[in-house]
Parts: sequence; C-alpha cells; structure tokens
Amino acid sequence: MESNKKPLVIVAGKVRVDGLAKLAEGATIRQWQESTPMPRETLKEWLRDAVGLWSSKHIKVDADLLASAPNLKVVAQDSVGYDNIVISDLTAKGIPHGNTPHVLTDTVAELAFTLLAAASRRIVENVEFVKQGLWTKQRPIHIGRDLKGTTLGIIGLGEIGLAIAKRAQAFGMHILYHNRTRRKDDVTQNLTYCTKEELLAKSDTVLVMTPLTDATRGMIGSAEFALMKSEALFVNVGRGAVVDTSALVTALETGQIAYAALDVVDPEPLPKEHPLLATGKVMIVPHIGSFTNETRHEMALLTANNLMAGIHEEPLPACVNE
Ligand code: DGY
Repeated sequence: MESNKKPLVIVAGKVRVDGLAKLAEGATIRQWQESTPMPRETLKEWLRDAVGLWSSKHIKVDADLLASAPNLKVVAQDSVGYDNIVISDLTAKGIPHGNTPHVLTDTVAELAFTLLAAASRRIVENVEFVKQGLWTKQRPIHIGRDLKGTTLGIIGLGEIGLAIAKRAQAFGMHILYHNRTRRKDDVTQNLTYCTKEELLAKSDTVLVMTPLTDATRGMIGSAEFALMKSEALFVNVGRGAVVDTSALVTALETGQIAYAALDVVDPEPLPKEHPLLATGKVMIVPHIGSFTNETRHEMALLTANNLMAGIHEEPLPACVNE
C-alpha cells in the first residue's frame, strides 16, 4: 500500500538488481522488462505521471520526450557518457541529468590497456592458433611488438585518459596527447601536448578516448588514417561514432594501419557479417569498458542515488548540468 505513495520512477530497460533495490527504498518503480529496446511511444505514455527516469543509451532524451513528462524532476543513467541525452533540452526545463563519473575510471583504463597490450602481442590470433591445433613444430606466425620505448598518442586525455597514460608509462611508453585545451599538469605528468596531426604521424599506437559530441563525431576518418604509421595500432575506447567506420575498414584493408582494438564501434551491436570483422585485423569486444562486477555495482548505486536526490530536489551526487 505504502509503496503506491512513493514517487514513480520509470526504468527504461534492464538494470542491475542492486541499483533497483536501492531505488525501491524511496520510489515506486515501473520497469521495461523486455530485452528489446523500449518503444518510444510506450515510454512517453509511462512518463506522464513519472518524476524520475532511469534512461538507457538506446533512448534519445530530448525536448520531444520531455513534452510527454510534465512531472519529471530528474533523469539519470548508469554511464559516464551522455551522448543520447540532449542536455540543453533538460536544462531548459530545469531537469538535472545524473551520470556516473569517477567510479569507472580505473576499470575503463584497465580494459583500454588490456586491449592495447593484447593487440600488440596478437593474443587473439595466437589463442586461435593453439585452438585450431596448428601448434605442432611450427612456430607461431603472429609475431608481436614491444610496448617499451614506443609512443602512445591519446586523443581526449581526461580523467580516464590519464589513468591509461599512467599504466602505459609503467610499461615504458612515451605519451603524446591532444585535447581541445592543453592540460595544466602535463609537464608534471610527463605528457607531451601536440596537434592532432602531429600525434597521428608520430604515434605507434593511437588511442581515442573522447566523448561523442557534435565536434567529435567522425573526427577520425580517411584523412586521419592517412597520417598514421603503417605499423600503427588503433584503439578506440571512447565512442564508436567518433570514428568513420568505413574509413577504418579501408585503412585496415589497404595496410594504411596495421591493426585495430576496439571496445566501441559504430554500429553497436556489430553484426557478424560486418566488413570490419572481415578485415581479419581487428580485436573487438562488446563495449565492456566498465563491465566488472564491482564497478557496475557502484554505477548502479550512484544512478539510484542520483535519482533519489533529484526526486527530493536536492543536488545530485554526480550531475552533468548543475
Ligand atoms: C560509459 O559509462 O559511458 C561507458 O561507455 C561504459 O562502458
């Protein structure tokens, strides 16, 4: 009975039960339980009486959606990225958006470095070599390359980028970086600032860690791949659409670059028959940057706490547009 008096929060997809349990302490939850993305019209209908929305990356949260949510006080999502949320539309209505920074920093950096190191030693191909019974007297044909003494260029060096750089430095790598604005701490952190073009030309590994915005969409395309070394490894742990996927396919097919290791791709999910996979020069994981049990737990709790704070018109623990 009492739960009916609690404010209504719409959870627009499958989320962790620990986050739901936290949220249920102070809210009535209506959750989309299907494995398919929630239809927009259904979401609009459900939002009519809702004060909170736990959104999902498949849903565009914009003025059109908000027009159906007259009582909405807060939106939150269990991700640090918010490229599916039109923040200015929320701000115009005085609605805060809560995301999950900091709690995933080391976890995403660990995955990024794992991809970098595994691709450098061609781990996927060498595992396959053994699985296919080819390890007889023949030596592995998939030879790797050292990390020590090589140059890692990071495009988009924020909190996560810095955590990746620290790991790379521990392996003896030199770090170049390119951001819109130069970091104040770069000299003390042993990071060398340069133009995007210089970074692309000088790096043995180019790693993209930028959020997806109008300015970064498609920022790595054929002109950028043409500047990279033919032995270059390309790593993307930011957002798939920062890269022009067909330009990446061409760069791999023509030997403009050597290999790509990707946590994020465009499109997601990547179909089995996608030309990127047919290049045979990629290692792709399904957007698992933050996917450890500990970190997903923290992200779910932070999302629930963001929603609860918003419902009570208190400052959110992590707010994008405060
Ligand atoms: C995020 O939180 O935006 C990351 O992409 C999670 O993996």
